Amino acid sequence: MEIKSAIREYEVLLKDDTEFVKSLFGHENTEYVVDKNVYELYTPLFECVPKERLLLIEATEEKKTIDTALEICERISELSAKRNAVLVSVGGGIIQDITGFVANIMYRGIKWIFVSTTLLAACDSCIGSKTSLNYKGFKNLLGTFYPPEQIYIAPVFFKTLSERDYKSGLGEVVKFNIMSGQKGLENIENNIEKLLSRDENTIKEFVESSLEFKKRFIEIDEFDKGERIKLNFAHTFGHAIEVVSRYEIPHGTAVAIGMIIADDISYKRGYVNSDVKVRSERKLLEIIDIDIDLLEAPESQYMAAIKKDKKQTDDSLTAVLIVSYGEVGELKVVHDVTQDEIFASLEYFKQLYKVGKK
Ligand SMILES: NC(=O)c1ccc[n+]([C@@H]2O[C@H](COP(=O)([O-])OP(=O)(O)OC[C@H]3O[C@@H](n4cnc5c(N)ncnc54)[C@H](O)[C@@H]3O)[C@@H](O)[C@H]2O)c1
Ligand SMILES: [Zn+2]
Repeated sequence: MEIKSAIREYEVLLKDDTEFVKSLFGHENTEYVVDKNVYELYTPLFECVPKERLLLIEATEEKKTIDTALEICERISELSAKRNAVLVSVGGGIIQDITGFVANIMYRGIKWIFVSTTLLAACDSCIGSKTSLNYKGFKNLLGTFYPPEQIYIAPVFFKTLSERDYKSGLGEVVKFNIMSGQKGLENIENNIEKLLSRDENTIKEFVESSLEFKKRFIEIDEFDKGERIKLNFAHTFGHAIEVVSRYEIPHGTAVAIGMIIADDISYKRGYVNSDVKVRSERKLLEIIDIDIDLLEAPESQYMAAIKKDKKQTDDSLTAVLIVSYGEVGELKVVHDVTQDEIFASLEYFKQLYKVGKK
């Protein structure tokens, strides 16, 4: 799959096994950054990497900082090549966010190859050019736009993901399908069991269709000024849930909860019928596994998190909602969401979850 970008065209390559990883190693003037867990699980794959050129990073939000980025810059500056230096990174969204930032600022841009080892990165974050670092306790406060030259995806890597991280990735997969309309929803209904059992061919199909869906938005509006904002469906609420749970609830799972809240608001406003809402909820509940107490926080904490979200431009609350649902789902950025609507639908989700998980 080719992705058009103002920065450069780049490609996504889907692979059936992990052997291709070895061919990325052993080149001169290349720095390798690998998720520590991935390295431990797949050590033989990395045997050809010169030890002095290999940096292992723990994929935690605490590590997604400018200090880690500068440590990698320091190592790249030791290579004899300058603008011809290459960065190869292997991991999920955290490794992607850090190394993308480095590849962008080092000599004003060096070649970067990314191997995505999580479902979330593969189906969503690997395309779209965003790089992010956390700063002063705020998530993704620093960032740039810079895509890798090549992205490799091998669904076989997802077999070793924890249930928590795998289901977080499924949150984004289900999101793209629900956003796309009736066919997408049916597609999820027909395949949720295979997805949950990590059937490789099914995952591959869904990763491809998710990326195809996202591609349409980022190719029109790479820099997030208009059309791309619609991809933020469910994210205003999801983001607040991540913050309130102190990131105990991972991104894709928070987005899945955010979708139930968004759909409930759309239903109460008369934008979607109960059939669509109930069918979406049923599938979403199958991929949400949380400690519900993590959502117990004062309303003021939720509101503070929502207002800190980059997408909020003024005092009114902005969110992306489904405003009609047919062959395709029609999404709209609305600016009049009220606090009462949000908390009524959050409460609705809590009750639904408690009953659904009994
Ligand atoms: N740049 C973007 O557009 C964008 C979009 C969405 C999310 N993000 C960011 O992505 C991050 C989340 O990324 P993520 O969900 O991919 O996970 P992650 O990078 O946080 O990794 C999750 C866990 O899975 C482990 N792991 C990775 N691959 C594995 C494998 N194959 N087998 C076993 N364990 C493995 C990691 O070590 C880590 O413990 C967040 O920081 C978020 O802000 C960025
Ligand atoms: Zn997301």
